[in-house]
Amino acid sequence: MPSFRAPRGTRDLLPDVRPGLSRLEGIARSLAGRYGYREIEIPMFEQTAVFERGIGEVTDVVEKELFRLAPRTEESESWALRPEATAGVVRAYIQHGMQTWPPPVKLALTGPMFRYDRPQAGRYRQFWQWDCEAIGDPGPAVDAEMIELGYRFYAESGLRDVQVLLNSIGDGACRPAYLEQLTGYFRGHEDDLPALERRRLETNPLRLLDSKDPAMADLIAAAPRIADCLCDACATHFAAVRAHLDALAVPYRIEPTLVRGLDYYSRTAFEYYRRGAAGQQQALGGGGRYDGLVELLGGRPTPGIGFALGLDRVLLALEETGAAPTHQAAPLAVIVGADPADTTGRLRIATLLRAEGLSVRAELSPRKLGRQLESAAREHAHFAVIVGDELAEGNVQLKDLEAGTQHLVPLEALAKDLARAAKSHHHG
Ligand code: HAM
Repeated sequence: MPSFRAPRGTRDLLPDVRPGLSRLEGIARSLAGRYGYREIEIPMFEQTAVFERGIGEVTDVVEKELFRLAPRTEESESWALRPEATAGVVRAYIQHGMQTWPPPVKLALTGPMFRYDRPQAGRYRQFWQWDCEAIGDPGPAVDAEMIELGYRFYAESGLRDVQVLLNSIGDGACRPAYLEQLTGYFRGHEDDLPALERRRLETNPLRLLDSKDPAMADLIAAAPRIADCLCDACATHFAAVRAHLDALAVPYRIEPTLVRGLDYYSRTAFEYYRRGAAGQQQALGGGGRYDGLVELLGGRPTPGIGFALGLDRVLLALEETGAAPTHQAAPLAVIVGADPADTTGRLRIATLLRAEGLSVRAELSPRKLGRQLESAAREHAHFAVIVGDELAEGNVQLKDLEAGTQHLVPLEALAKDLARAAKSHHHG
């Protein structure tokens, strides 16, 4: 017999873990509502060109990590699983004419993303993101609003000590001169560059700054900084973003080497880290402005900004800090019976209570009543509903398993009694 396992870099989220992700999705949904982001869903795969053009062909995400789907026939389209949501959301924005909606168009989604990366702690081949995009506002106020939104998500999740790293990476006006300077600098160290970086020096020099190769760390630290090359418009924009963040009391640190790993960014770039964990390739989330992306994918020139927060990493961090909430799975009541064979009776009462919104389990095994009660107590149910001869008069016994008390309850009052008890015991 072959024994099958989940693919490398993926995880089964078992019932003790999945509720944690659902809780984060709930917080994300609630925040999205409060901040005016509307929910959207896009396919988990797109034409490969959406990612190649949007994210950039010479990026880790596209060159090394894209999950390409094998074409089924010679002439069929080339598809890839989404490594992130921004390119797909912008593709949808253009396709559905959202540029005619009142700007900014604010869209949000949570869902799995796929990157064929080398798996390690906090780095998976399938992982979950909360992604928010505000398309049609050039900023700078919306930049700060966006950064504050991400910051608030961590606070509401229960994660303390999250820090915002912030930078501006210039725009089409000032970046070319900077890139020339950067290329000159790295050419001067060409012999020290790993093979991939040497190749990228000619095709996409900015990517050398987010290289994960440890051999690059010192070179990156000493490289010319974009912040020193910003044009007046970018410098003014950056100063205004900072002023807005100060006004909102969002703490941040300027990180001059932060350039992000995707090509579509301009001006504002930011990442969230746990304090003390910065620089370990373990960002909790990140985002930035992408004023050229809509046009790049075939739409009219439209500014945009967004972020994606890695939910797996938030779950891990909550676990590490001991702040992960536990998830109650016990039913409020178990329906047991004096006649082990009468599964119909127990199931009917369970159905009735479930229809009233209560969480109950019907004992369906033909065990003796004593055994049924034991197993109800073992799973920490608060009550047992005992179905016996009294049912002929429309009554059942309601046993409080924690208090050890028991009394007769008419069937029509059972749901209400249990609901009241559930409320006073914070159960169910
Ligand atoms: P990103 O920095 O590539 O940005 O990913 C955002 C977050 O997703 C990361 O900070 C990390 O928490 C999480 N993440 C990325 N890769 C993995 C992985 N292999 N395993 C676990 N978690 C991971 C984006 O994706 C952009 N689309 C963000 C954005 C939206 N920019 C503008 N709008």
